Amino acid sequence: MTVEQLQKKIVELKKENDICILAHSYQSREICEIADIVGDSFKLSVEAQKVKNRKIVMCGVHFMAETAKLLSPDKTVVIASDEAGCLMAEQFTPEDVLRFKETNPNYKVVSYINTTAALKCVTDVCVTSSSAVEIVGKLPDRDILFIPDPNLGDFVQKAYPEKNIVCWNGGCPVHGKMTAEDVKRIRAKFPEAKFLVHPECPPEVCEGADYIGSTAGIIAYARKSDAEQFIIGTEISITEQLSYEMPHKRFVNLSKRLICSDMKITTLTDVYDAVCGRGGLEITFDDDTAAKARRCIDEMIRLGG
Ligand code: 13P
Ligand code: SF4
Repeated sequence: MTVEQLQKKIVELKKENDICILAHSYQSREICEIADIVGDSFKLSVEAQKVKNRKIVMCGVHFMAETAKLLSPDKTVVIASDEAGCLMAEQFTPEDVLRFKETNPNYKVVSYINTTAALKCVTDVCVTSSSAVEIVGKLPDRDILFIPDPNLGDFVQKAYPEKNIVCWNGGCPVHGKMTAEDVKRIRAKFPEAKFLVHPECPPEVCEGADYIGSTAGIIAYARKSDAEQFIIGTEISITEQLSYEMPHKRFVNLSKRLICSDMKITTLTDVYDAVCGRGGLEITFDDDTAAKARRCIDEMIRLGG
């Protein structure tokens, strides 16, 4: 069977079985092509609430499927590949936060959406990379514990120097390994190119960028810009996606090492198995976790608009 034939089968099966396929933009090209909704973490969260189908198949990493289930508790939510986790999401435990709160009770806990449902249970408000600056700006609080990404935390801190944002060591192992040397090397090769970067990269990588923002923000900037060349400082799928969409513009990776192996675990055949009902993993929560973990996501959507 060819890729195209398998894609056709998946499209037929999802209609037959009343399934909506959600895919993060870091998924492979062949998966994005058959998904009903493709987007960044914020878009997927917002859209998950509006899905009319009885079942959602999430092509992404574990916390994304958890978020979809928390927002659509009456639907069956299946992650297409149960091994796809986000290393950053699992860096801290609820106990770490509760210990911090014992001695710092006045701090607001702001968590990046890349966290487990257990951590969301002890979070006041969630943010995504596209909504972090806006949401933290709307909080009246000065003292904030921002987890688990110190690079995104630093980006937010720069927007509000008057706030006291505490971060812990951690972050995305993929974006976090980019260096100022990588930037220097690629900028020397493409001196005219606009540099668009994800705030999960270290501050010395983001410094001097033409745009810093989420995957959706990077895509929107590239669409609007009249420039002809762009260096893309996020997962390599975005560079590929942009190249397909705008072949008249040149998109190059900040580095080919910017590849998230977890986002690449899911294959088209996994999606096929999931829509057939013979693969993937169904996400479930007990009532207490579902209620507690949802609060900070609702707060994110309320403040993020
Ligand atoms: P976005 O919030 O831009 O979708 O990023 C998600 C992610 O996992 C980035 O590494
Ligand atoms: Fe997690 Fe980083 Fe992969 Fe995004 S790129 S899913 S933050 S490990």
